[in-house]
Amino acid sequence: MISYKNLGLVNSSALFAKSIQGGYAIPAFNFNNMEQMQAIIGACVETKSPVILQVSSGARKYANQTLLRYMAQGAVEYAKELGCAIPIVLHLDHGDTFELCKSCIEYGFSSVMIDGSHLPYDENVALTKKVVEYAHQFDVTVEGELGVLAGVEDEVSAAHHTYTEPDQVEDFVKKTGVDSLAISIGTSHGAFKFKPGQKPQIRLDILAEIERRIPGFPIVLHGSSSVPQDIVAEINQYGGKLKDSIGIPEDQLRAAAKSAVCKINIDSDGRLAMTAAIRKVFVEKPEEFDPRKYLGPARDKLKELYRHKILHVLGSNDQA
Ligand code: G3H
Ligand code: 13P
Ligand code: ZN
Repeated sequence: MISYKNLGLVNSSALFAKSIQGGYAIPAFNFNNMEQMQAIIGACVETKSPVILQVSSGARKYANQTLLRYMAQGAVEYAKELGCAIPIVLHLDHGDTFELCKSCIEYGFSSVMIDGSHLPYDENVALTKKVVEYAHQFDVTVEGELGVLAGVEDEVSAAHHTYTEPDQVEDFVKKTGVDSLAISIGTSHGAFKFKPGQKPQIRLDILAEIERRIPGFPIVLHGSSSVPQDIVAEINQYGGKLKDSIGIPEDQLRAAAKSAVCKINIDSDGRLAMTAAIRKVFVEKPEEFDPRKYLGPARDKLKELYRHKILHVLGSNDQA
């Protein structure tokens, strides 16, 4: 058993309490390789933002559990070396079983999500409660979910949203003991959220009703990529074949971040940014074959994207 405390990581409790008071959200950026980790930490140190490094079960399989533990520890030391010991959470994104959550806790995670949102309500409650009881013994924080987002996440996909029922949240939080709650209010996973011409609209009214039921309780938004149109155009200009799509408008996310939303998950926009930079090098410099020559620009573009998110969407700058 490796305690996250020995790796220099923190859990999400204090960060969320502060972010609700301060009207900003903590960035939760997914990672599974070194360049992504460097970009995240570089951007967060430069903007003095706390950060949640999150790892999906697919990412954990890809990167290896042991390497991830050292990468997270490395992230802590890297931030110090860059000049600011920002608070760093290592979080399991969309944990689907008790066993996976337990294993992540044993490998140094400071926070886990148990996503029982696809289960019948009572089963979601029972599974989430079981994870909370285990995790809290080790001071690890737990995120649960109510409501189903449209889109794809690992092996699970849903065609339509099922918005979170405000009537259920108080009961869920009480029965499970979770530390934060992911809700479904119109965001969705992946790079293909809405067709151009559609009007994405986060249901801030449902969010307000949820806040009324559980005042001051930390709320999480998944599926919060905005699918930057200039980056999609760049991918397609350099030989990509992405279909037209738009994401969640950044001003709507900024409005949500000012409320009880204290964690905003962004993965797809980072994937798009890296892909655009790599494609550009491949087309403009086809003679290159040193991975540093394309992964380096991908890392730079990713860091710029994260800086932008922190400064203009999350508002978490200067909160480390
Ligand atoms: O919500 C899902 C995240 O974007 C992780 O995606 O399961 O493909 O790693 P992944
Ligand atoms: P996006 O696909 O919108 O980036 O959402 C990521 C996410 O919710 C990870 O859990
Ligand atoms: Zn998600």
